[in-house]
Amino acid sequence: MLFYFTGTGNSLYAAKALADKGEAVIDMAESRNNGNFSFRVPKGEAVGFVFPVYFYSVPDVVADFCKKLRLAGESYVYAVITCGAGIGGSGGLLKEMLAKRCIKLRNVFPVVMPDNALLFYSIADAEKNRQTLLVSDKKLLRIKEQIDARKKGEIKGAAIGRIGRHVYHLCTRTSKFYADNSCVGCGLCAKNCPDNAIEMKDSKPRWVKDRCTKCTACINRCPSKAIQYGKATVKRNRYVNPVFRGSR
Ligand SMILES: Cc1cc2nc3c(=O)[nH]c(=O)nc-3n(C[C@H](O)[C@H](O)[C@H](O)COP(=O)(O)O)c2cc1C
Ligand code: SF4
Ligand code: SF4
Repeated sequence: MLFYFTGTGNSLYAAKALADKGEAVIDMAESRNNGNFSFRVPKGEAVGFVFPVYFYSVPDVVADFCKKLRLAGESYVYAVITCGAGIGGSGGLLKEMLAKRCIKLRNVFPVVMPDNALLFYSIADAEKNRQTLLVSDKKLLRIKEQIDARKKGEIKGAAIGRIGRHVYHLCTRTSKFYADNSCVGCGLCAKNCPDNAIEMKDSKPRWVKDRCTKCTACINRCPSKAIQYGKATVKRNRYVNPVFRGSR
């Protein structure tokens, strides 16, 4: 059983690479929004959490989901955390969050994938991202072997994760988002937002919540590159993992 959260597709791509045939791959954002927090693990199956690191810590969607999660029948639980450079204290903090639900996290595997954080800095071009994905494919194969062997590992860094979440929450306001004149009114940004923070009005998106998870799905996945975050993103590249063709 695999639980994933993604903004731009990397973590879904990783989850699909790790899933066995017939294994359930469950969207944590969708489950959280539907109030679905109870799961029974098929006998002998591993349980994976696959999601991106945000500010060296755990994204809000994942934190919200884990706070209410009820698992039955789990034996081996691991996390695969995707990142642009490093996962900081996200694994340690996840371990702490799951322990509060009586779930024991046994190992955490980081995977470097293309960085999608264009709200904060420039991101790589398409060719560089293609190369990064080729390297991550090999890493995912090695991780899969370790999961299949039920390998346990030391998990540290909860304190860094807590500091990271504090900094993260200083950056979750939506007020800098807007759509420019190249918006064609397709509504994908509203459909793809895990927080339902965007509504369409007069064929234009409006950010209707003060804060959001900051997954970057809206800005990176807009087919017209019409969404901006202040002025800085006008000239920056966008990133979407090949796993996404169209909407979520
Ligand atoms: C709000 C935000 C914060 C991020 N913080 C980090 C970070 O602390 N370290 C890092 O290496 N990558 C960071 N990233 C990059 C993502 O973790 C990385 O690109 C991830 O693979 C994206 O996964 P996704 O495509 O499944 O959304 C951040 C991205 C966002 C949007
Ligand atoms: S995804 Fe882009 S083009 Fe479509 S409605 Fe949103 S801003 Fe407009
Ligand atoms: S508003 Fe955009 S960045 Fe914020 S959660 Fe929704 S899709 Fe992600």
